[in-house]
Formats: sequence, C-alpha cells, structure tokens
Amino acid sequence: RLLRQGLRWRRPYSSVAASDIEHFKTILPPHAILSTVSPSSLPSSELDQYNNDWMGKYRGRATTVLKPKTAQQVSDIVRWCAGHDIPIVPQGGNTGLVGGSIPLQDELVVSLANMNSVRSFDPVSGILVADAGCILQSLTDYVAPHNHIMPIDLGAKGSCHIGGNVATNAGGLRLLRYGSLHGSVLGLEVVLPDGTILDQLTSLRKDNTGYDLKQLFIGAEGTLGIITAVSILTPPSPQASNNVILALPHFDNVQPLYRAVKRQLSEILSAFEFIDRTAYNLAVKHGQGRALSDEDVEGAECFVLVETSGGRREHDEEKLEDLLSSLMDSDEPLINTGVLSQNPAQFSSLWALREGITEAVSKEGKAYKYDISIPLASFKTVVDATREHLRSKGLLGEHAVTHVLGYGHVGDGNLHLNIVAAAYTQEIQDALEPFVYEVVASYRGSISAEHGIGAMKTHALHYSKNDASIEWMKKIKTLFDPKGIMNPGKVLE
Ligand code: FAD
Ligand code: MLT
Ligand code: ZN
Repeated sequence: RLLRQGLRWRRPYSSVAASDIEHFKTILPPHAILSTVSPSSLPSSELDQYNNDWMGKYRGRATTVLKPKTAQQVSDIVRWCAGHDIPIVPQGGNTGLVGGSIPLQDELVVSLANMNSVRSFDPVSGILVADAGCILQSLTDYVAPHNHIMPIDLGAKGSCHIGGNVATNAGGLRLLRYGSLHGSVLGLEVVLPDGTILDQLTSLRKDNTGYDLKQLFIGAEGTLGIITAVSILTPPSPQASNNVILALPHFDNVQPLYRAVKRQLSEILSAFEFIDRTAYNLAVKHGQGRALSDEDVEGAECFVLVETSGGRREHDEEKLEDLLSSLMDSDEPLINTGVLSQNPAQFSSLWALREGITEAVSKEGKAYKYDISIPLASFKTVVDATREHLRSKGLLGEHAVTHVLGYGHVGDGNLHLNIVAAAYTQEIQDALEPFVYEVVASYRGSISAEHGIGAMKTHALHYSKNDASIEWMKKIKTLFDPKGIMNPGKVLE
C-alpha cells in the first residue's frame, strides 16, 4: 500500500488501491463506482467533473468516486476507509466557491448525488425531511404545491444539494427574512468518520436536551462527517412577492436608504441586495436578467434590489408604491430612479440581474473571490482600496486585473469583493493576500461570511478567529476524526 505524505497533511494516508475497489464492489453496484484504478480503469476524463470546481480554480487527482444511495452504504464505505487510512472528500453539487469539495491530492470522493429522495413532508408543520443529495431547486419544486418555500435560495439552486448547503451553512438571498440554517435545520443524519450513523434527524421545533450536536456539522464543510439527510423547517409561501431595482447616485445613500426601506416596508421586506456599477455592467454584458434603460442607469454609482413578500398583494403594492413616491419626492432624493417589476417574468429577470453576477464574473475571466463580513458603511471603501492597491502594484490592465467589483447582502453586512483577471497568477494572489484579510481584520470582520474556509482560507483563519478558538476547533476535529480522514486540509490546516 502506497503511503503519501502531502505537503499540507500531517498524517500519512493511503491511496485507493485495487483491493479497495474490490471491497467497494461488495457495498455498491458497479454503476455507483467510478474509478481509474484497475480493474475498473475508466479514463481519467470521466472523473473531470468531480476533480474540478465550478470556477475552474481548484483541481484534484481523485482516482475514485463512489455514489452511495443509502446512509448504510455511506457508513460501510467510511468504516472501510477509517480502517485503511483512506481520506475522503464528501461532495454535493460541487458549486462551492472555496475549493472545499475538491481533493487536495487523490482522496476518495464520496458523491451524494444518488441520495436524492424526499423522505417525508408534513404540510401542517412545514417540516421537510430529505436525503442530503436532493438538489435545492427540486426541493423548492417539491414543497411549492403544498404552499411552502425553502428557507434558503441562491444562484446555484439548480445544482447545489441541500446537504452541501448545510455543510457550508450557505446564506444566500433569503437570510434577511428566514435567518440562517442554524435556525431552520431541525435535525441531521450524519455518518461520522468511524462509520457510525449519528441519527439526529428529529423534527422538533423545541429540544433542549443538552448539547445540540447537529449545529457542529452545519458549516463544518464535511470535516466532521458526511451529512446523509436533513430535516428542515420550510416557511409558508408568501401570497405576494414584488421586487424593484433602485438606482443610487452615490454609495453613501445605501445606508440611509436601507433604514428608510426597513422603516416603511417593515414586515414585508424580504431582501435588500447591493450591486455596484461594475457588477451591474458585467451582469448586463453577459446577458443576465433585464437591463435597465440607459436613462435609468445614467449617473448611477450603484443599485439596490429590494424584494417584498407578504400576505396581500394590494397591501404590499401600496406600501411599495408609497415607498417609491416618498423616495422620489424627497428634497434630497436618495435614489435616481426605481424600476418596479410588473409581472412574474419581470420579477424573475430583475432577480436574474443580481443572481447572475457570479456567472457573469466567471464568463468575463478568472475570479478571485472574497466573501467578507464588514460594516456596511465600508463596502465601497474596501472595493476602492483594493482597486487602488492593485493599481499601485501595476496590476490593473488588460493582461492582469480587468475589474474590481462589489455586490452582496446588505442586510447581512456581507460584501462579495471580486477581482476579475485574465488568469490566476501568483503575482495577483500575492498582491491580494494578506492585503484583503488585513483590511477585514482591521474592522474585526469575517474573512468568510457565507462561503466557508474550504482549501482557500485555512492559512487565513487567524484573521477572524483567535488562538483559543482555533485550538478548540482543532480539539473538536480530533475528537470526531482522530485519524484525520474526513476532508483533510479543509477548514483547518
Ligand atoms: P459542494 O460544493 O459539493 O461542497 C461544499 C462543501 O461542503 C465541501 O467542503 C464539501 O466537502 C461539503 N459537503 C458537500 N456535501 C456534503 C455532505 N452531504 N456532507 C458533508 N459535507 C458535504 N453560497 C452562499 O452562501 N450564498 C450564495 O448566495 C451563494 N450563491 C452561489 C451562486 C453560485 C452561482 C455558485 C456557483 C455558488 C454559490 N454559493 C453561495 C456557494 C455555496 O457554498 C454553494 O452553492 C452551496 O452551498 C454548496 O452546495 P454544494 O452541494 O454544491 O456543495
Ligand atoms: C452571491 O451572493 O451571489 C453568492 O454568494 C455567490 C458569489 O459570491 O458570487
Ligand atoms: Zn452571497
């Protein structure tokens, strides 16, 4: 058996060998084992989709991908791996943005894609119990006829899994209204690193029976175990939803606008999203959503997308129209203009402008993505400071960094600072780090608001967590995973 000592791994691990494949055949049917290891010997290109991330930034060298259908199969696989020192990378929809789902070397990939059944749904309580590999959009479609929605929504909804959402503690576009997954996830079923199936799949709203273990797996990015099922509280569908894009002459108006919108819309406000001018231009350039007219965007430094969700259409529309009139009629208007959606198609296309920025950025070039929590008032300062810093290093230009932009979730204090370049280069990377992390730390912010640490930020964890916190995180990791086989090199170095 070949032992590998990776650069960033402290323990020796084993690669998947032919004898392991023979054993996996006793657990899974042949079509659930994808391997380039003899005797299966698939061409390695068959594994490309599992070895490459969504951005084309991280590349793994996994030789084997297993696709179990049941928690028992996951348990049998993990037990074997624990006994044979084979490291595992749990993989959901592979839409993560920090390299967490990609092997650092040739770890075994356990894909949850075949665990995609709804186990139960109670239309009275709204509690949904689903396999971890269910795609978020398919769950939204499942609960819709029962007049419920998922408490989470994000641009990757067509590919990401609910298990991946929970593993990353994804935030997304509805967090302002429905809170984080730490609140809406009621229970989990998890296969621990020794193969034990931890059944915490309760559907209780209230359960104060000691330590709430499931919380540890929410946001653990697959380093403490493999989530195989999720029990989640789904809210009732709003009777009416509206949205409007507001064009602002100055970024400084965002904060007073947010206050005014919260005051006037109160309980029907469901999203307040920020788009700077560069982000808007890129979304339009790459055909995301419905562009505003030239007149509407003239003189706009940035945009805000406001969504309302409420119980009665006339009431909500009246509130939104009152808000727009008061904003436009003011002596010193905070906005230049507002474009209100008039029908479901326009509603979706206004959202597409915001949700499509991620895709637009990756169509434009290679993205360096910083997902940070900082005070709202400093969003623009940080974007501008990063641009000027790159300029001072001579890195702005056609063959280096082409765009520096900001967008994000105002209500959550979460800015997505993106740097688009012609290529991923060490020079740009060195200019950005630790620069960005030091700026974040100066605000006592978070270097990862919602995307996680993955492989990208393990070295930077200390900018947001003190030594004692990191030490206790390591103790928890060692307690659950003494052999260190579960997603090694992710979250913690
Ligand atoms: P993967 O990418 O497969 O995995 C992510 C991490 O979770 C990895 O560390 C992996 O090992 C682990 N993991 C996956 N499944 C399991 C499991 N069953 N058990 C244990 N560990 C597991 N994020 C936000 O927070 N908000 C957004 O608004 C948002 N928008 C996005 C828009 C786009 C277009 C894209 C591409 C990504 C976006 N993301 C966003 C990133 C986000 O983290 C993912 O989309 C999503 O939560 C990851 O789910 P996934 O199934 O693709 O997980
Ligand atoms: C978003 O808010 O659009 C997502 O978090 C994805 C991204 O940061 O690009
Ligand atoms: Zn986001």
